[in-house]
Amino acid sequence: MEFPLLITGGNGRLGTELRRLIPGHYPTRAELDVTNRTQINGLVFESSYAGILHLAAISDPKTADAQRTLSYAVNVLGTRNMARKANEENIPFIYISSDYVFPCTTGGYKEEDAPAPANWYGYTKYAGELEAQLAGGEHLIIRTSFRPKIWSFPTAFSDIITTADYVDVIAQEIATCVALKIRGIIHIGTPAKSFYELAAQRKPQVIPALCTDPTFPRNRTLAISRWLEAKHHARGMVR
Ligand SMILES: NC(=O)c1ccc[n+]([C@@H]2O[C@H](COP(=O)([O-])OP(=O)(O)OC[C@H]3O[C@@H](n4cnc5c(N)ncnc54)[C@H](OP(=O)(O)O)[C@@H]3O)[C@@H](O)[C@H]2O)c1
Repeated sequence: MEFPLLITGGNGRLGTELRRLIPGHYPTRAELDVTNRTQINGLVFESSYAGILHLAAISDPKTADAQRTLSYAVNVLGTRNMARKANEENIPFIYISSDYVFPCTTGGYKEEDAPAPANWYGYTKYAGELEAQLAGGEHLIIRTSFRPKIWSFPTAFSDIITTADYVDVIAQEIATCVALKIRGIIHIGTPAKSFYELAAQRKPQVIPALCTDPTFPRNRTLAISRWLEAKHHARGMVR
């Protein structure tokens, strides 16, 4: 891309990793609050951007559920504001969504499967997807999941399955996806594994545990074949 991206929420976990991978302008929340339309219209577009990469969100499901008015404002209305701004500026809008748009019971969810959010956070992320689509411009919706770089717990669930990976791994995949200019919906992750298997990759002494909370999503796997094919195809093209 000729111009840098504008990245919202760039001081978070994912944004911190993406700074090393995607050149762009990473304003703080004070500089760009996605719920503040005056600020969006007045301050943000002083220079040209190749697109908006929208990371800003209330990303912790417990916080999102406890503060529904806030999480609706940021995750849904904030996404609407930024998606509309991208459309007005005629630049692509890239939105990071979640595996929680699915019920996370049977797993293996494909891009075209019907969302049925697992929790309030998932509901707000799905509503954000609709905002990205309804704004009417070019867009990319990336559904994914990631964990902090270091496994901080002594145990990890061996009976919860995921296509999540560490945030630095997923950030690299997202940067590749953005560079490929893919459009529409895509699922990004790494092959299915238990959280215990993921944790043990970086913390060999981690102890396997069973999840005793019956409400906890058991199978969070996304079908990632479309992403793997896109990467494979892109590698073939550069040869
Ligand atoms: N964590 C996951 O496993 C996961 C999985 C799937 C998708 N996602 C999505 O990926 C994106 C990044 O997640 P993350 O884990 O990096 O989140 P994070 O660490 O919680 O960072 C969120 C960022 O959003 C900013 N923010 C919050 N409200 C804002 C507002 N009103 N205006 C502007 N910025 C605001 C925060 O600002 P401050 O720095 O000031 O707090 C922070 O920089 C989110 O959209 C999340 O929903 C996350």
